[in-house]
This record gives sequence, structure tokens and C-alpha cells, in this order.
Amino acid sequence: MTGERTVIVLAAGEGKRMKSSLPKMLHPLLGRTLLGHVLAATSALGPSRTIVVVGHGADQITAHLKEIAPEAVTVLQEVQLGTGHAARVALDAYGPAEGTVVIVNGDVPLLRPATLRSLVDAHEAAGAAATVLTAEVEQPYGLGRVIRNAVTGAVDAIVEERDATPEQRAVTEINAGVYAFEASLLAQSLGKLTTANAQGEEYLTDVIGLLVDAGHGVLAHATGDPTEVLGVNDRVELSRLRALLRDRINDGWMRSGVTIVDPMTTWIDVDVTLGRDTVIEPNTHLRGTTRVGEWAVIGPDTTLIDVVVGDGARVVRTHGEGVTIGPRATIGPFSYLRPGTELAERTKVGAFVEVKNSQVGAGTKIPHLSYVGDATIGEETNIGAANVVVNYDGVTKHRTVIGSHVRTGSDTMLVAPVTIGDGAYTAAGSVITRDVPPGALGVGRAQQRNVEGWVQRRRPGTKAAAAAAAATAGAAVGESTAALDGVAVTANEEG
Ligand code: UD1
Ligand code: CA
Repeated sequence: MTGERTVIVLAAGEGKRMKSSLPKMLHPLLGRTLLGHVLAATSALGPSRTIVVVGHGADQITAHLKEIAPEAVTVLQEVQLGTGHAARVALDAYGPAEGTVVIVNGDVPLLRPATLRSLVDAHEAAGAAATVLTAEVEQPYGLGRVIRNAVTGAVDAIVEERDATPEQRAVTEINAGVYAFEASLLAQSLGKLTTANAQGEEYLTDVIGLLVDAGHGVLAHATGDPTEVLGVNDRVELSRLRALLRDRINDGWMRSGVTIVDPMTTWIDVDVTLGRDTVIEPNTHLRGTTRVGEWAVIGPDTTLIDVVVGDGARVVRTHGEGVTIGPRATIGPFSYLRPGTELAERTKVGAFVEVKNSQVGAGTKIPHLSYVGDATIGEETNIGAANVVVNYDGVTKHRTVIGSHVRTGSDTMLVAPVTIGDGAYTAAGSVITRDVPPGALGVGRAQQRNVEGWVQRRRPGTKAAAAAAAATAGAAVGESTAALDGVAVTANEEG
């Protein structure tokens, strides 16, 4: 039977060793803050209330909580007098709790929801006074040691590093900083804490010894995975945890049918989703709410933030944020996709192309060296090489509408606001400032003039003049056949 569950997350500490103006709890780790990871784990308990104890950076942490866990309440611990004091402040602020009180240090982001659930279930099933999460670690330095009764093997106490005897320091079973307590016994014990220890603090860990001394049952719940309970104290530890979490996430996706060619250089945020048979090439970062379908190929050297990628799309050497990429689209290499861009199925965006806040229809291609901003483009249109949508007049952004089956010539400037009708063409090198009706050829460039014999007259004695002389030997000079209606439109289709 599940009774009431109160969660208290301890997050008032400064995190001095981070050497940061950002509170330690707000440092990011593959898609969530440290605190966000802990709250994701505790929310799996279905708690009746969640109290976060804040102190250093309280305003920033409170603002962050409003975004990620609006149901959580905060309590201010003005002076950090220890983990026991923090728990007491929380219970004092929100009245006596009933049932189970789960207390979690805010700095154990790799704690698995399943581990926390099994700890609380075991605690409640046994009717224990307290249950503490423990782990066997190779380097227990700095952590609280779990001291067990030499005869019964039951937990006797937790002793902090600085208060431990050399014998106790040799113990490799440590306190993870994750506990379940029977609510009223916790409240009573917190009232009895003293500061008679090396750090002059009220230790939450002393509650364990107090309960044992009073004859109550205390359980240790061991996790088989010591990486789960690693804390973060400085940025070196943060980077180690990031690598561990990366491996955990990547292993999960590979077991679900995703090929990850180089897991060491593939960084996938916790909330990203990937479809089966998708391949992630090396050095790829998938962040935020990115969702990738099946049979897609992403990377190498690609970063996608909050991007949706359809089935069978290929995205190579690309940076994208806030974008939808349709099924079977091909993107890159060297494409830059910016927020508000929606690329329909089978679109192509090629090398050195930037697309911002634009809708691009099915089968449309923007293959080379172009900027498309604030535009709507229809289906099966081809944008020539080096086109620029001139969307900004220095004050206001304007929209451009390009129809379906349009062919724009290379180096077309489309000065917004402007509309190119269905099936229209533009001549290469045009600056298009007026609408082009459906089926028309828009030409907006100076006419070409050839000054015959100029090189031989003005650059005599050069190699160019010699080449020109050789090429024109015997030919009648001055017969230009360039007729204007022969304007090359060169749309650079799939070049
Ligand atoms: C604590 C445990 C230790 C355990 C370790 C696991 C105590 C006394 N010791 O040590 O047994 O092995 O965690 O990582 O509990 N905090 C507050 N208010 C305070 C003090 C701390 O909110 O007054 C918060 C911190 O922000 C942090 C958490 O409590 O999130 C733990 O505090 P920290 O100082 O890091 O404790 P440790 O020395 O790591
Ligand atoms: Ca700590």
C-alpha cells in the first residue's frame, strides 16, 4: 500500500568548487540541470508534495523550478547549517508530514528513477524507520561511511569522513545521500540533532544513528551501480558524469535499434527520441526535444537542437535549431538551419546554405551557397546557386513568396516583399524587386556590352593579348552575335 510521500530535495549549498556565478544545481548535463535530473527521478515516486530547500542562488533556482517543476515548492534555508538543518527547515515550513519522507541531495544527477522507486518500495514494505541508499565504491574519500554492526551486519550509523576513525575510513560502503524515512520518527530525530562534529553542522546522517539507538529498524538499500550515486562537486566531476550519462543514453539507444558509429563522440540529451535503424555518425550532438524518425542518417559533425527529422532523411555536417526536416530530405554538408524553418519531404538543402523562418515545399531544392529567410517556397522549385532572399531593409523583415516549379537563376537577389509565381524563371544575376507573374522570366540586371578588341588595344604585349590575337586570327573582328533574347538563365539544377 502506498501512503503519502513527501519529497525533500536539498539544494541550498553553494557548490564553491564549481567556481561559478551559476548555482551548482543549475549547471546543465545533457538536457537537464543537475537539479532537473534529481527532480525527474523523484517525480517517478508520484509524491504528494515536493519541497526544494534553496539558499545560494535561491532566486535563480526558484525561477528554474517554475519552468521545470511548477508543482514543487521551495523553502529558503538562509544559512547552510547542514543537511539535517535543511530537512528540518523544510518540514517546519510545510507542517508535519505523514507516511514516507524521501530526502535526496540535489547533487546526485545520475540517480535512476527505478532505483529510487525500489528503495522507497522496500522501505515501505518493511515498515522501516529509515532506508538509506548505499554503494560500494573504490574511492570513498570525502563520503559518509555506512557503519554496520559487527555481529548482525545491520546498519548502526553513518559517519562522515572528517569524523571517522582510521578504521571507519577503511569502509568502502558509502552513503549516497538518498533516503526514505518514516515521517514522524524523522521529525522527532531531527529535533535531537546536535552540531557536535568536525564541521559544526546538523548532519542528516546522524538521524540514522539516533534511530538505531532508539531501537528502530534501519535498512541499507544497495545499488549495484556505483556510478549512479556519484555527486558533482567541481567541473572535473561534472565532465566525468556527463561521459557516464552519455554512455548510459547511447547504450539505451543502441539496444533499441539505433546504430551509433562512435558512441564516444555522440552526445544525446535525455529527452531526445530516435527511431529504429537510424544511424548516428561520429561527432553528433542531438539536443533538447530533438526527435528523429526511422532509417535516418545524422552526422557526422552535426548539431541538432529541438529539431524534428522525418524517416529516411540525411543530415550531414549541419547545425540546426528549432527546425522540422521532412522525410527523405537531404541536408548538408555545411548547412545552417535556423528557427521557424519547415522543410517538407524530399527537400534538399546543400552546401553553405542558410535557411531561417521559411517553409519549403516538397521536393524543392536549395543546393548551393544561398540565404533564404522569411520565405515561403512551393513544391519542386529549384533555387539557383548563390541566391539571396533580401529579407531585411535595415528596419523591418519582409516576406518572400516563391511558387511551385519555379527556377531561379544563379545569383538572383529576391528583394522582399516580393512574389514569384508558379512556374516562373528568373535570369541569372538578377535583382528582383517586383513580382514575377506565373510563367514569366524575371530579368533584373544591366545589359551586357562587349568592347571589341579592347585587350589588344589597351593591354598590348600581355599574354591575354597574345591569346586573343591567336583566337581571333582569321576571324572577322567586331561581329558580336550575343542577342539579348538568348539570355542564359542557368538555374543550376542539381548541379
Ligand atoms: C553528504 C552526506 C554524506 C554522503 C554525501 C553523498 C551529510 C552530512 N553527509 O555529504 O554522508 O556520502 O552527501 O554525496 O549529509 N545542503 C543544503 N543545506 C545545507 C547543506 C547542504 O541544502 O545546509 C545540500 C547541498 O546543496 C547538497 C546536499 O545538501 O545538495 C549535500 O550537501 P553536501 O555539503 O554536498 O554534503 P556532502 O559533504 O557531499
Ligand atoms: Ca556533495
